[in-house]
Amino acid sequence: MANKENKKKNTEYLSIKEEKQIAHENQKVMKQFEQAKNRKNVDESEYTTQMKNPDNVIEFDDLHTFFYTDVGVNKAVNGVTFSVPKGKIIGIVGESGCGKSVTSLSAMQLVQGPQGQIVKGSIRYTTSEGKCYDIAKMPRDEMRRIRGKEISMIFQEPMTSLNPVFKIGDQLDEALNIYKQSLKAEQIKARSIEMLNLVGIADPEKVYNNFPHELSGGMRQRIMIAMALICEPRLIIADEPTTALDVTIQAQILDLLLDVKNKINGSIMLITHDLGVIASMADFVVVMYAGKIVESGEIHDIFNHPKHPYTVGLMSSLPSLSNVEGKQKLYSIPGQVPSAVNLPDYCYFCNRCDYSFDACYKAYPDDVPFENEHHASCFLYDEKYKDLNLNRPELPKNISGSADAQAARKIPQGRVDIETLNNNPKES
Ligand SMILES: Nc1ncnc2c1ncn2[C@@H]1O[C@H](COP(=O)(O)OP(=O)(O)OP(=O)(O)O)[C@@H](O)[C@H]1O
Ligand code: SF4
Ligand SMILES: [Mg+2]
Repeated sequence: MANKENKKKNTEYLSIKEEKQIAHENQKVMKQFEQAKNRKNVDESEYTTQMKNPDNVIEFDDLHTFFYTDVGVNKAVNGVTFSVPKGKIIGIVGESGCGKSVTSLSAMQLVQGPQGQIVKGSIRYTTSEGKCYDIAKMPRDEMRRIRGKEISMIFQEPMTSLNPVFKIGDQLDEALNIYKQSLKAEQIKARSIEMLNLVGIADPEKVYNNFPHELSGGMRQRIMIAMALICEPRLIIADEPTTALDVTIQAQILDLLLDVKNKINGSIMLITHDLGVIASMADFVVVMYAGKIVESGEIHDIFNHPKHPYTVGLMSSLPSLSNVEGKQKLYSIPGQVPSAVNLPDYCYFCNRCDYSFDACYKAYPDDVPFENEHHASCFLYDEKYKDLNLNRPELPKNISGSADAQAARKIPQGRVDIETLNNNPKES
């Protein structure tokens, strides 16, 4: 049953005529979305809304962001709902192509248009002036008031995000100049140098006059953080902020991010492949698979009692010392994420799931709530099937393990310390 999906005949090839038809239809749809975004003098009431919970800084509600490609509609984000409470860190995990970046780019209105469009749902955000806007409906011009100043983003690859032909100082000054036009040139420069100091750059006056290529990867990532934080945003989106860095620099950058977040009392949406980074940083975890959230919950619930077979698979893929000592092969989830253009109308994880049963091939599972805001979308926990005596996934012993396996649970990568996490669950 588990590989039933693989056995289906592949009938997904398109003729040139079909591709042309799709492109023609796409043009019409994309034009409508672009016109709506480019409208001028839109009354504020059209995109003013209210937060469901005033303690949240941002709320994603049934967000759908699609790409209109020549081979069909890519449902990159397909009904995502979660929120970021004030002052907290939300970790978003999932394999490549699951829609993590597109979710965060949607919050900045930076999805690559005209192909990429927010087609449905809301992104509610309360500004520092206390106004609540639906970013999904905001015209492009208005969004410029929020982007950078209120919400800012740290990208994965600093070398492609920094402009190679401008000095670091010019790029930092520009970020501030856009939002604080009342400041004089010398005040802007002083603030840029102060930011370089804050992110741990040793000789800030010198670095202010350097070009990006004159700096190391770690320093460039610090500059990116300085640039993202210079306007003291209330929400920082960090999309794989440490992936391009080696392990020691990773730890420094994460500490820095935590430190600066506390200083400016901000919230962080942290996107990463690295569960170790999530374990040491996040308060709450969102697990994405093929454009949907399959599990979410507080950090210790997700790491100690994961419910969804995909989350358990991700955790089981973590390297541990017991793998090395026992010369065991590292677990990897078989198969691949399905194409976001041809998603099935039943559970998207079916073709890779060792626990699938008949119901999984008939519909997409509903969200099942557990204790403590913990949710998972999986039929294994559906009340309807509780009499079936189904097998449910469990963490392997070397990850969840007993007391005598403590040493084996230390993971020789990044800052993973699941043991500490298990023993000292974070206060919510
Ligand atoms: N500009 C684009 N045009 C067409 N499709 C895109 C574009 N950007 C992203 N996508 C598609 O959207 C889906 C989600 O991509 P996204 O970049 O959000 O993945 P991700 O989870 O961030 O992956 P990674 O971990 O590799 O960064 C993928 O199927 C991807 O192919
Ligand atoms: S619903 Fe749950 S058990 Fe069924 S295929 Fe999906 S993840 Fe596996
Ligand atoms: Mg990404």
